[in-house]
Amino acid sequence: VSPLQRALASARDPSLLSLALGMPDPALFPAKELERAAVRALASGDEVLQYNLPCEKLQAQICKQMAERGVDCSPDSVLLTAGATQALALLVRLLLDPGARVVEEELTYPTYQLAVDPYSPDIVTIPSTVRTGIDVDVLERKLARGHRPAFLYLIPDGHNPLGASLSDEKRRRLAELASKYRMPIIEDDVYGSLRYDGPITRPIKALAPEWVYYIGSFSKVLAPALRVGWLVVPPALISPLSVIKEAADVNTSTFAQWVTAEYLEAESLSAHVRSLRHAYRVRRDTMDDALRSCVQPVGSWEVPTCGVFFWIDLPEDINASELLRSAIEHEHVSFLPAETFSRGRRTNGLRLSFSRCQPHEITEAVSRLGRALSRLLSHARYSR
Ligand SMILES: Cc1ncc(COP(=O)(O)O)c(C=O)c1O
Repeated sequence: VSPLQRALASARDPSLLSLALGMPDPALFPAKELERAAVRALASGDEVLQYNLPCEKLQAQICKQMAERGVDCSPDSVLLTAGATQALALLVRLLLDPGARVVEEELTYPTYQLAVDPYSPDIVTIPSTVRTGIDVDVLERKLARGHRPAFLYLIPDGHNPLGASLSDEKRRRLAELASKYRMPIIEDDVYGSLRYDGPITRPIKALAPEWVYYIGSFSKVLAPALRVGWLVVPPALISPLSVIKEAADVNTSTFAQWVTAEYLEAESLSAHVRSLRHAYRVRRDTMDDALRSCVQPVGSWEVPTCGVFFWIDLPEDINASELLRSAIEHEHVSFLPAETFSRGRRTNGLRLSFSRCQPHEITEAVSRLGRALSRLLSHARYSR
């Protein structure tokens, strides 16, 4: 069972406070608006319940949304997918030959690892920090030594699990490296609109359109159950990707595409995203306050400017997986440990999500985490 499946199962236990998953708070879903959109979609004709070609209206709406993120694209470069997850799987299938090289960060999104692992890739690892994200100097040195990969996978805004967002300077350098070394970058931007403060960022796609394959999703800003995401790629790649997609699921749920398109036509997604930002900013600040009183000085962290995660660096002798076992058993609180994101190589860190719990639950959960940490530390001292 994958860590995600385990965390999904434990999130159902009402006695457990879970900071493990980057799920939206269901209370913040625009359920009424989606209900109206679903009624309109069904009234528009039998086509919405049929196998179908991609929804052109949605492709055009996505181009408009991309323009607001600073990316210029046309509908013939947009492929609609079953969430960002499928977009990633399709790109991996297209770009990665068995045994070929990939470049990835030391800590990265576990579903990406699941997508590449069946190809037994030759993995080149680049360090990343909670403060500034990927180390571009190390990347450049490895590329200069001839480590040309099938691609580099990045989450430039609200990184999962680090919470980091890349500076403009790093984005510019990454775009230059992609062009210079003819290295595709898979840019996963599922958290880019959830920005709380700091400068507005532009996706790397805007800087190197030919070499950056962009992934977007409505999961974090509307609802994950829609399973509607998209790719923006050079138009020549749409056809091969569509063939791979056909083998996977014929077409992205027509109904979900039409509901999304109806929602975007009648409602203001940007007003909804503003209200999400407001709610999540409060939760982020609540988590920071709680960490200051319960986890300092053992752990250290940066306050994320985007996304839904805090990454906590722990001293080397603390094993976060051990901490998790004790935190679940004694304090009924959960999170995801460093091993989940590092192919088991790193143990002294953990990821907390602040999107799903109410502020008072965040305060309680972090205080439970603090107690679990104290118990582990006193036990370690005792057994030394
Ligand atoms: C970095 C990243 N990419 C993709 C996804 C999945 O997105 P989707 O629901 O659109 O498949 C997530 C969800 O947690 C994520 O954190």
